[in-house]
Amino acid sequence: MEQILDFITGKMESAFEKAGFDSSYGKVTVSNRPDLCEYQCNGALAAAKAYHRPPIQIAQSVVAELDGSDFSMAQVVAPGFINLKLSGSYLAQYLEAMRQAPDFGVSKSGLGKTIVVDYGGANVAKPLHIGHLRPAIIGETLKRLYRFMGYRTIGDVHLGDWGLQMGLIITELQIRQPELPYFDPDFQGEYPAAPPFTLSDLEEIYPAANLKKNTDPDFARRAHEATFALQHGHPGYRAIWRHIMNLSTADLQRIYDALDVHFDVWLGESDAAPLIPAMIQDLKARGLAVESDGALVLPVAEETDKQEVPPCILVKSDGAAIYATTDLATMVQRMRDYAPDKMLYVTDKRQALHFEQVFRAAKKSGIVKPETELEHLGHGTMNGKDGKPFKTRDGGLLRLEQLLADMTAFVRAKVVENQIVAPEDVEDTTAKIALAALKYGDLSNQPTKDYNFDLERFAAFEGNTGPYILYTIVRIKSILAKYGVWEHLPILPPENESQKDLMLAVTKFAPTLESALRASAPNLICSYIYELAGCVNKFYHETKILGAEDPGKQAGYIALIGLAKSILERAIDLLGFSAPDKM
Ligand code: ARG
Repeated sequence: MEQILDFITGKMESAFEKAGFDSSYGKVTVSNRPDLCEYQCNGALAAAKAYHRPPIQIAQSVVAELDGSDFSMAQVVAPGFINLKLSGSYLAQYLEAMRQAPDFGVSKSGLGKTIVVDYGGANVAKPLHIGHLRPAIIGETLKRLYRFMGYRTIGDVHLGDWGLQMGLIITELQIRQPELPYFDPDFQGEYPAAPPFTLSDLEEIYPAANLKKNTDPDFARRAHEATFALQHGHPGYRAIWRHIMNLSTADLQRIYDALDVHFDVWLGESDAAPLIPAMIQDLKARGLAVESDGALVLPVAEETDKQEVPPCILVKSDGAAIYATTDLATMVQRMRDYAPDKMLYVTDKRQALHFEQVFRAAKKSGIVKPETELEHLGHGTMNGKDGKPFKTRDGGLLRLEQLLADMTAFVRAKVVENQIVAPEDVEDTTAKIALAALKYGDLSNQPTKDYNFDLERFAAFEGNTGPYILYTIVRIKSILAKYGVWEHLPILPPENESQKDLMLAVTKFAPTLESALRASAPNLICSYIYELAGCVNKFYHETKILGAEDPGKQAGYIALIGLAKSILERAIDLLGFSAPDKM
């Protein structure tokens, strides 16, 4: 569907043309003085220079050519601005078209295109901690946004499942239970189907082994050797690895599910590993990969670099492949399997240099086609309420599960205390509010900036919060339920100012999504729905809706808040949460 700014610009362009000027002067923008007008055109000022005529005259002759039914105001203001207000009838017609169009008339700019979104960044055998919150929820939102805009999207968790943590666990297990068949070089036959440890054993084994590594060089050496052996096909270690994978990914899935974060594929570093040898051989053969101090590297520095960009290391001097190697091999796999138009990575911004190196190496080597877009969205850190790094009492990293549990407990207490819902609905309502609080609290910040986590503020029912948005939706739902059947009612021209403001806010849905996608900025969606919810509440306070005397006008009110509700619900779905029925 045509966007409203394009529509008005079109009208203005033909008015310029009819008045004898070039149509390119007709560009219209949203007004930066909403107290004076809704839209404005400054083209007469530029045209004045080209045509050597006073801008005010040009503006007047252009305005005379505008069709009065589209604008309730088209005013010329010295020295030559054109200030515009849309007519109520046009606005109603536009919203009615939005209401009837699939997905509110948002143009599917991504149709025919494929994007891989690499987010989450979980590491197997290590619990998810608060550092994993942002990549999960920002990535999930961007994936949903791309999908909504028509892209074929592949969300990949890209598990860290091939690193030293595996060797540490294997080595520690061997010390504790040397009699296990996995460690017997002469073992023949099938390894046991059941793992020799539980998930909670693993949660104890890994940190213990990790500590030992720092104090016991011999243990560290053995863990490195075990990692190497695992990566080179040691059958017993592979069997242990599979046990760890099964237990750990089931647990990761459970926590991501609770966050309403869903990956399309659960691939990991281990899936890219088999592609590494051929890739390295090819890069060597083409002279792209070169020896440097015993390591194999791919230089990626460019003349224009202001800061040194070190070469991308492919194989370390000890023969091990590293993070960058795996990321390059993963690109080989993605190009082969999905031929994406874009790959988007959401990780901590401290990985910016890594991605710069990998992206350059991928382009330089042709692993990724020149036209394939590569983007790294580096997110900022979530700090504690006091602005300091978020630490548990004992100085450790708070588990993501605990963070969600804390938020849930806080919200549950409110829900119970205010007797918001029947006892049997407490858990469901609580979960929805808690998720909204957590996600909106995060997503409403610019992704690249740090922010402070403030549980009470995020969970407040008033202010710029997730629960406030939910509350607005619930309020509309309850009005609609009292009214009765509303879904077929057409949108009517506004009866008052706050109704018109609400209608204008509704029209900004599609342009907001486009800007959010272009800038990888879910915070734009948050500020949009905060504005929209504010307009709904103002309209509600200033207008008798259920008590309206004129049933015709009432139907128009109901149709409008119904549309606003549908848009708010659609938007929060993109943000990864949903509204309860009561609050
Ligand atoms: N597992 C990594 C970490 O914990 C993040 C992975 C991000 N994705 C990627 N393709 N490198 O830092």
